[in-house]
Amino acid sequence: MDTITTFSLLLSTLTLALSVLGSTSEYSSSPPLENFLQCLSNNSSPSYPASNAIYTPKNSSFLTILHMHTHNNRFSSPTAPKPLAIVTSLHESHVQGTITCAKNHGLQIRIRSGGHDCEGLSYVSDVPFIILDMFHHDSVDVDIENGTAWVESGATIGKLYYTIAKKNNSLAFPSGVCTTLGTGGHFSGGGYGNLMRKFGLSIDNIIDANIVDVNGNILDRKSMGEDLFWAIRGGGGASFGVILKWKIKLVSVTPQVTVFKVIHSLEKDATNVVYKWQEIASKLDENLFIRASFEVVNGTQKGTKTINVKFIGMFLGLIDKLMPLMNTSFPQLGLKKSDCIEIPWVNSTLYWANYPIGTKIEALLDVPKEPIFYNFKTMSDYVKKPISKTHLESIWKFMIKIDHVKMEWNPYGGMMHEISASETPFPHRKGNLFLIEYLTSWGENGVEAENHYLNISKAFYEFMTPYVSNSPREAFLNYRDLNIGANYPSNTTKIDLSQSYGIKYFWGNFQKLVSVKSRVDPQNFFRYEQSIPPLLH
Ligand SMILES: Cc1cc2nc3c(=O)[nH]c(=O)nc-3n(C[C@H](O)[C@H](O)[C@H](O)COP(=O)(O)OP(=O)(O)OC[C@H]3O[C@@H](n4cnc5c(N)ncnc54)[C@H](O)[C@@H]3O)c2cc1C
Ligand SMILES: *[C@@H]1O[C@H](CO)[C@@H](O)[C@H](O)[C@H]1NC(C)=O
Ligand SMILES: *[C@@H]1O[C@H](CO)[C@@H](O)[C@H](O)[C@H]1NC(C)=O
Ligand SMILES: *[C@@H]1O[C@H](CO)[C@@H](O)[C@H](O)[C@H]1NC(C)=O
Ligand SMILES: *[C@@H]1O[C@H](CO)[C@@H](O)[C@H](O)[C@H]1NC(C)=O
Ligand SMILES: *[C@@H]1O[C@H](CO)[C@@H](O)[C@H](O)[C@H]1NC(C)=O
Ligand SMILES: *[C@@H]1O[C@H](CO)[C@@H](O)[C@H](O)[C@H]1NC(C)=O
Ligand SMILES: *[C@@H]1O[C@H](CO)[C@@H](O)[C@H](O)[C@H]1NC(C)=O
Ligand SMILES: *[C@@H]1O[C@H](CO)[C@@H](O)[C@H](O)[C@H]1NC(C)=O
Ligand SMILES: *[C@@H]1O[C@H](CO)[C@@H](O)[C@H](O)[C@H]1NC(C)=O
Repeated sequence: MDTITTFSLLLSTLTLALSVLGSTSEYSSSPPLENFLQCLSNNSSPSYPASNAIYTPKNSSFLTILHMHTHNNRFSSPTAPKPLAIVTSLHESHVQGTITCAKNHGLQIRIRSGGHDCEGLSYVSDVPFIILDMFHHDSVDVDIENGTAWVESGATIGKLYYTIAKKNNSLAFPSGVCTTLGTGGHFSGGGYGNLMRKFGLSIDNIIDANIVDVNGNILDRKSMGEDLFWAIRGGGGASFGVILKWKIKLVSVTPQVTVFKVIHSLEKDATNVVYKWQEIASKLDENLFIRASFEVVNGTQKGTKTINVKFIGMFLGLIDKLMPLMNTSFPQLGLKKSDCIEIPWVNSTLYWANYPIGTKIEALLDVPKEPIFYNFKTMSDYVKKPISKTHLESIWKFMIKIDHVKMEWNPYGGMMHEISASETPFPHRKGNLFLIEYLTSWGENGVEAENHYLNISKAFYEFMTPYVSNSPREAFLNYRDLNIGANYPSNTTKIDLSQSYGIKYFWGNFQKLVSVKSRVDPQNFFRYEQSIPPLLH
């Protein structure tokens, strides 16, 4: 054997070894996956061959499909764990087949609709897994006479808003601000936005659903039972089954609403305005929603930093009615008529999503064309009593010192306080003044940068401890946060940490979620890093 042949042999052996080691191909030729794929083909409706839905790393578009709905670069970098395969379901038989075949061949699945999970749990895991991707299931069917709609789990809320408004500009639905959220994850985790003070959360306006259970059966509200229907409205869908679609009750809004933005700098009077906001934002007329968002910016003096507090508001009514209301309840904000814009509700959803005034509502149908190249970490808190001015000032100081952390404060009150804490799994109702979302984002890639920013994010969360809810320190499921506890499937020590995150997300409702889980999925097929465990798993 001459040297060249030996060398190329060595090279091909090496390539083989590398591909065996690589996370994507390690299992791609292993029997479980082959059997799974064969089984899925066998179980698919003849009109919808599975081969049109399946992507493995061997398909050249595998990464494109994977990253079409990854919204956080932390979990879509080349080193992030990749699925063995992606099933882009085209028909309910693909959903049923994925469940049955994964279960029979000992594989885990991760369910993805819009892909905004803040910890990437719909598309990464530290064990071998298959993604069941629901984005093709995106129809919205509005029944205008009855004021209801069926919306599939892969439809974005932008598409939902658009489709409703096309039928009637005075109908709406209360859910989130980012228009690309998928209803599969967004609704099953609660779903809040600027209509929540008037109408509650998305889950408070859901009247039926279709779910595929662990046996591959399609169930509606009646056949799934009230306990399961309760669980999937706020308890996270992925512990219980795959949601195919929701039936929602539309709400009536005025044909025109008023929106505004007012910025106060710390260099001026922001502390007093924020203090007042804490006292009144949850008590205002329920047609009025005012969010406060905080960002560290350069000060007017060269080399200094300060904080801008942006108050973003929406009033379900016209300017002439809003002005006297603001004059009596929140004159400190200094809202002027010229800050206000009257627009149809559907246009206001684009305004909140930062599109310029005048944008055509077709923008609600936009999907990201490029993968998202920034990294972020979110955390959440609930505030039950106003933070004193002195403490606000120490928060600003710390925020400026560490930089890179933004906050959004969202007022509760109104309908949020009228619904009991056990009505749905989402327990954060009466007694909460506002919800805080913390957002740390960065552009640099790599582990070192990630550790740095995660550390900052954690430090800020720790700093906030005295000012927020405790025993438990509550957290919002849709702002999923692995720092509050997780059951890593690959962890062999098997210490159950579900109590830790379960109580924070669901409070007293956690036990009921566990009992529903024990009834519908006792073998714990639908599991992931923060799922609800059955009893005695
Ligand atoms: C930029 C941004 C803005 C946000 N704004 C808001 C906001 O205004 N209001 C708010 O409430 N939240 C907001 N969130 C949080 C968001 O609601 C959650 O991340 C939500 O889970 C996203 O749903 P998804 O379908 O897009 O995500 P996915 O990542 O697809 O899913 C999230 C979770 O739901 C599960 N799941 C998804 N589809 C199904 C299904 N069909 N059946 C069963 N389980 C399923 C997944 O397995 C995962 O556990 C925001 C998040 C981001 C990143
Ligand atoms: C799929 O169906 C074929 C033909 O009916 C059968 O031979 C095969 O065993 C089935 N495979 C699986 C994994 O179900
Ligand atoms: C992926 O590749 C396989 C094998 O070549 C093929 O059968 C399948 O149709 C491809 N998937 C899609 C969605 O085109
Ligand atoms: C309204 O709902 C009722 C009851 O579900 C249904 O029978 C009727 O067909 C619906 N109306 C329309 C126009 O779809
Ligand atoms: C639109 O919905 C509003 C609010 O429910 C209702 O009053 C109005 O009659 C509807 N308009 C049409 C054209 O259906
Ligand atoms: C803020 O100031 C720094 C220098 O102190 C400068 O490099 C940076 O570009 C400024 N940022 C903005 C947004 O003006
Ligand atoms: C606000 O209130 C003051 C005093 O109560 C009154 O003089 C003024 O006209 C009011 N302004 C508006 C816009 O209502
Ligand atoms: C509202 O949307 C319509 C329809 O796309 C658009 O023509 C109009 O310019 C928008 N209006 C505002 C004020 O943004
Ligand atoms: C994390 O933050 C702490 C305190 O703020 C600091 O002591 C530590 O060095 C930081 N670690 C990293 C990796 O940045
Ligand atoms: C496994 O779980 C134990 C107990 O909760 C925890 O201390 C440990 O860090 C976990 N290990 C990994 C690799 O996640």
